[in-house]
Amino acid sequence: MVNVATEGVGVADEGAVAERRVCVIGAGYVGLTAAACLAHLGHRVSCVESDPHRLAMIRRHEMPIYEPGLEELVAKGRASGRLEFFSEVAPALVQAEVALLCVGTPPRPSGEPNLSYLAQAARQVAKGAGGDIVVVVKSTVPPGSCEALELVCAEEAAPGVRIRVASSPEFLRESRAIEDFLAPDRVVVGAEHDDVSDLVASLYPPASPVIRCDRRGAELVKYASNTFLAIKVSFANEVAQLCDALGTDADTVLAGVGADQRVGPAFLRPGPGYGGSCLPKDVAGFRAIGESVGTRTLLAAAAEEQNAHAREVIVGKLETALGSLVGRSIAVLGLAFKDGTDDTRDSPGLHIVEQLDKAGATVRAYDPLVHADLARGRRVDSVDQAVRGADAVVITTTSAEFRAIDPSKLAIAMEGNVVFDAAGVTDIPSWSAAGLTVYGVGRGTPLAFHPVVWTPLRWTNATLVPSGA
Ligand SMILES: NC(=O)c1ccc[n+]([C@@H]2O[C@H](COP(=O)([O-])OP(=O)(O)OC[C@H]3O[C@@H](n4cnc5c(N)ncnc54)[C@H](O)[C@@H]3O)[C@@H](O)[C@H]2O)c1
Repeated sequence: MVNVATEGVGVADEGAVAERRVCVIGAGYVGLTAAACLAHLGHRVSCVESDPHRLAMIRRHEMPIYEPGLEELVAKGRASGRLEFFSEVAPALVQAEVALLCVGTPPRPSGEPNLSYLAQAARQVAKGAGGDIVVVVKSTVPPGSCEALELVCAEEAAPGVRIRVASSPEFLRESRAIEDFLAPDRVVVGAEHDDVSDLVASLYPPASPVIRCDRRGAELVKYASNTFLAIKVSFANEVAQLCDALGTDADTVLAGVGADQRVGPAFLRPGPGYGGSCLPKDVAGFRAIGESVGTRTLLAAAAEEQNAHAREVIVGKLETALGSLVGRSIAVLGLAFKDGTDDTRDSPGLHIVEQLDKAGATVRAYDPLVHADLARGRRVDSVDQAVRGADAVVITTTSAEFRAIDPSKLAIAMEGNVVFDAAGVTDIPSWSAAGLTVYGVGRGTPLAFHPVVWTPLRWTNATLVPSGA
């Protein structure tokens, strides 16, 4: 049974929670954010990171990931003595009541997540626990995982030590991770025992709306949420493709759709498709769950297909605009999967770079937050370097730096004049006035990849028919 308690959302003040001793395993986007925020809320946190490079960075007060406000919160936690970092699980568990597992669950080629890091972390906790402890799985795992992990823990634990496993999936968005952790839309707690459920709920900001359920339900909430968001993004792109064919504006059409309270405007924006470490992986995971229990996940499959198509459409339209991609010089602005993060996992920008490269174009790519040369030698250090002499420019994220591009300066710097603004950041009239030809996703720029021709309609005997008929 699901019990929803909605007491309003707010960012709790420090000290507003009953202090708990929490061990966080994994210092990535989820773990480091959770550790810093839990310390901020007033808990005592020991955070374990097994990657020596990541741990060394944290110890040098450098963040291994980019997340606004994280560096300050980690520094504050360390200065207060509430937040410590460890390389090994056992010493970090001393006195811990709760261990949060925040390790990666990357997809296998089949779509199923690789749970080996999680199983290893659970074993380490079970072996290192000096007394009873609650293990909370924050990583995204398929239904049934927590039950299975509890058996693994029971095998490894010392005699007399009781380890109970709960599910509390994480919903934070990269680039807004702290705000999401401290003022969540909801906290989901899946546990078999009320005292475990209460303990897990007590870790979060006191005003958080808590949804309590069984462990399988909690595990499924995460996959179902991300799959629904992916369907929304893909639907927006499907509408955008229709808008391009009809020569009308998708932002306006989707604003009209999203204004309905039953739908809501979030994630109804056309663009280069979804990417990142979560949506693609979790849609594939949702489908794998369906297959494992014999149900059909038709909408999830359609979202995946449309997402792949949305990327193809961009490269295809660019080819149409340029005549051919062979030997063309193309600047790709945006390598992270969205603005405000350095995460390039399954990013549309990187995918477009690869497709352009395969098609014989010469690519220069730039992203203000991505410093690693993931674009294999094609990354440059500024917008200026990327666009100089380019035949075409592709914009894939809504970065403020791309929004601030002066179209007249861009037109002078480029050799050609084609801009494909997949992120929807340009003002088409002023960019056109600067001599640039701007194409977008659903922005009434009907450069068809599959040539779809709009035939005006006329009335005949109270019926609409194509005007030529
Ligand atoms: N990134 C997101 O936006 C997000 C949001 C919600 C949920 N999730 C889910 O949360 C989980 C973690 O995601 P992430 O993006 O933080 O992953 P990540 O890869 O950034 O971080 C995982 C960290 O765990 C460390 N680790 C692995 N095994 C360890 C062990 N035994 N002991 C100590 N450290 C260990 C790794 O070295 C790494 O630093 C995944 O299941 C993901 O699907 C991610």
